[in-house]
Amino acid sequence: MTARPIIIDCDPGQDDAIMLLLAFAAPAELDILGITTVAGNVPLNLTQRNARIMCDIGGRQDIPVFAGCIRPMLRPLMTAEAVHGKTGIDGVEIYDPETPLRPEHSVDFIIETLLAAADESITLVPTGPLTNIAMAIVREPSIVPKIAEIVLMGGAMREGGNSSPSAEFNIQVDPHAAHIVFSCGRPITAMGLDATHQVITTAERLAAIGAIGSDVGRAAHDMLEFYDRHDMEKYGSEGGPLHDPCTVAYLLAPDLFTGKQVNVAIETQSDLTMGHTAVDFWRVTGRPENTNWIYKVDADGFYDLLTQHLAKL
Ligand code: RIB
Ligand code: CA
Repeated sequence: MTARPIIIDCDPGQDDAIMLLLAFAAPAELDILGITTVAGNVPLNLTQRNARIMCDIGGRQDIPVFAGCIRPMLRPLMTAEAVHGKTGIDGVEIYDPETPLRPEHSVDFIIETLLAAADESITLVPTGPLTNIAMAIVREPSIVPKIAEIVLMGGAMREGGNSSPSAEFNIQVDPHAAHIVFSCGRPITAMGLDATHQVITTAERLAAIGAIGSDVGRAAHDMLEFYDRHDMEKYGSEGGPLHDPCTVAYLLAPDLFTGKQVNVAIETQSDLTMGHTAVDFWRVTGRPENTNWIYKVDADGFYDLLTQHLAKL
């Protein structure tokens, strides 16, 4: 089996960081062409640094890392330090990483990589606001046919919003970018809160990650221990939802996930519901079915996969 070529676009964030470690642990399945970073959970200067720290920790200093858009396309940047801490990856030691930052802009890297690729050959894995992806599509529409699939974390339907009553954070930060991506015409699999809120890092699951005993296991455990506290208070749950690793887990073990082809449209007009994902689950609008909306996850199978892979690093 040849490894699937992917570009990961992220805003680390502890859950983005765990997603990166999971991807690093599957070199036979995933050929990570590059990691592009975007402003989101914390400002861009921190998300790019955090991605590079994870490349150090995961032993993948070979992967090129790029900095991208410093703010959303139209709206002012909204960050989430209350969830992720001031560094964005509170829980691990912060230092000036050895993994270099490449000089090219994320958007340029995405465009140049896709232009050089065959049609339907590269999978995009965005786990932050969709600004970089949308800017690449707007600047160079001829990259769209090169995209095999977009597997993203974002949106919410039954779960309601986590950054407003009706919007999930990644989509609310840059709803205009989300509109461009969901309208691009290429296959999209969306891990919204309806999926990721089924994936809860309970004390038992956290202990299993800590028991790995390696530097990677300790880093993952300590980041999750910090990251979970906010959502445990917010949702009264026995752990925090582990959003972003669901994207990579889907690429590695799609049978853990159940989805439905539906239309997803993005609210870009109303201040009250800005960034809402209108998921036409019962297909009442007749709008094109642009998204494989994931609504069921085998959480035990997910954590087995995650823990086994983290133990390989
Ligand atoms: O709403 C959860 C999403 O917002 C995750 O990607 C998290 O990292 C934040 O970016
Ligand atoms: Ca993220």
